[in-house]
Amino acid sequence: MHNKLIVENLEKVYKTEVETIAVRDFNLKMNSGEIVTLAGPSGSGKTTILFCIASLLEPTFGKIIVNNKVINTFLAEDLIAYRRNIVGIIFQNYNLIEYLTVFENVAFPLWLAEKKKKDVKERVNDLLDKLDIARYAQTFPCFLSMGEQQRVAIGVALANDPEIILADEPTGNLDRKTADIVINLLINEVEESRKILVLATHDEKIIHDSARVISLEKRT
Ligand SMILES: Nc1ncnc2c1ncn2[C@@H]1O[C@H](COP(=O)(O)OP(=O)(O)OP(=O)(O)O)[C@@H](O)[C@H]1O
Ligand SMILES: [Mg+2]
Repeated sequence: MHNKLIVENLEKVYKTEVETIAVRDFNLKMNSGEIVTLAGPSGSGKTTILFCIASLLEPTFGKIIVNNKVINTFLAEDLIAYRRNIVGIIFQNYNLIEYLTVFENVAFPLWLAEKKKKDVKERVNDLLDKLDIARYAQTFPCFLSMGEQQRVAIGVALANDPEIILADEPTGNLDRKTADIVINLLINEVEESRKILVLATHDEKIIHDSARVISLEKRT
């Protein structure tokens, strides 16, 4: 049986004035319905790994294989389709669009995918309900608490119903109760819809509760 997501010998070196080896020889194999937690101190390469899987960064060495295709050699058109339809990323710093309302932020990936207006409305309202932020639909992100903005960011990542969810510190700014709600929501997505979830976190409780943890070391 093939694995849905394979990361093979991933290495990422940032070449600025100094060379930083952010990731070295990272390997991962996952099938639908699985969750992996990336743990490790600040600077150990968690965000870098997620960005490489999301194809937002190009690996220095190694391969990312999704559905039997090496995505880091994709050309523009396939890359756009991959980013639009296959992966959804919850950014550590949210990356919400400040001049769009909460509704519009979550709708944005669906507009890009040219979904029908009626379907967009239904999908966004459903997600806002699930994330318990429906009352902020017409509000701009800057008026929301960090925890509420975090939930909008999750809505954006889930909008296109991606097969692979990448979550970068999704509970970083949430209290325990809200953090548990958010994590359970992501776990439900994985279980109900047979998705893949790669989760980067410092949260000791999440790490403790995770069946599969990869601990990264900081490189100097
Ligand atoms: N664009 C960049 N240019 C140069 N160095 C970078 C860049 N992005 C990240 N790095 C470096 O790569 C290393 C890994 O960073 P990364 O952000 O992946 O770590 P992290 O585990 O996500 O950390 P945190 O827990 O603080 O979010 C760090 O040493 C960081 O300074
Ligand atoms: Mg990070």
